[in-house]
Amino acid sequence: MKALVTGAAGFIGSHVVEALGAAGHEVTGLDLRVPAHDATSEAAHLPGRARPALGEVRLVTGDVRHPAVLDRALDGVDLVVHQAAKVGLGVDVADLPDYASVNVYGTAVLLAAMARSGVGRLVLASSMVVYGEGAYDCGEHGRVRPGPRTREDLAGGVFEPRCPRCGAELTSATIAEDAPPDPRNAYASTKLAQEHLAANWARETGGTAVALRYHNVYGPRMPRDTPYSGVAAIFRSALEAGRAPCVFEDGRQRRDFVHVRDVAEANVAAARARTVPGELAAYNVASGRPHTIGEMAGALAAERNGPEPVVTGEYRLGDVRHIVATPDRAARDLGFRARTGFTEGMREFATAPLG
Ligand code: UD1
Repeated sequence: MKALVTGAAGFIGSHVVEALGAAGHEVTGLDLRVPAHDATSEAAHLPGRARPALGEVRLVTGDVRHPAVLDRALDGVDLVVHQAAKVGLGVDVADLPDYASVNVYGTAVLLAAMARSGVGRLVLASSMVVYGEGAYDCGEHGRVRPGPRTREDLAGGVFEPRCPRCGAELTSATIAEDAPPDPRNAYASTKLAQEHLAANWARETGGTAVALRYHNVYGPRMPRDTPYSGVAAIFRSALEAGRAPCVFEDGRQRRDFVHVRDVAEANVAAARARTVPGELAAYNVASGRPHTIGEMAGALAAERNGPEPVVTGEYRLGDVRHIVATPDRAARDLGFRARTGFTEGMREFATAPLG
């Protein structure tokens, strides 16, 4: 198939370009960034690091919010793999307009352009952040979805969410795709809005739409430490600078770290998926083998021979405690299972080049 990858020069997008190319697709990349070594933009090539041994990839340089750029990029395309987005937790509410503009408006412009060009397949980069807090079981009340943790609890070192009905301690459980969404920050709200818009587009056009809810993606070319970076990049950057990773809360919060090459393979699987036309199908993209933030910090520090992580007890109000997914639906419908194990993945990431 002929695929357009938006955000093609980014961390995940560049791996998706490679994986689609290796699977035999003809790839066009769209990105804001002009490749460092070639400023001619149109029909230029992705940076060498983005496509080892893949041959040439057509790159259109421009903004996903510009209809004319999209019309050009979509010429002859059968499938769009939409990775372009403003990511991360951001700094504060001053970021809201940018998140809404790039993620929500940008996706709306893209979907309208796809309808104009008759492109009937979409793979959307979504996120586990649409769930908000993970799933929990209360001994008394069964499956519950606790609201945000209070400042008082966090400041007092009470990190585990409580049962919203009786206040009792809870056991963390795995979350599946049919859990009701509960976005807790601007980024999460825009990812959910993207899913809704994609579902609207699918219904209106009869198109096929797959949303991949990425869990904590890490691996080579991950962006360095910024207010928009995930925790793996923050720890990796700290260690590189000779500083100890600062582990918030008590370090026992759990996440599912999934390697970027597995995420790229999930996109390849989604590109050929036979899901129901006219509907959006959502899938967790996760390893199914969660680890604590403390374990992740320890693994990276050990690979780099220190310094040892420090558990600081700090907290961020917008953070959720545990978010652990079941990857079974993607295995069943897409034939996708993550292959890179935590130990080998972190060993590579400890010294891999960052973006
Ligand atoms: C992350 C991403 C989110 C993405 C999701 C799935 C960010 C900021 N968050 O969400 O955009 O959709 O993965 O891929 O990019 N922590 C520390 N020390 C630090 C920073 C964070 O201990 O210096 C802890 C946090 O308190 C939290 C955990 O690490 O408990 C994860 O943090 P982070 O990676 O920022 O956010 P996620 O919620 O996992």
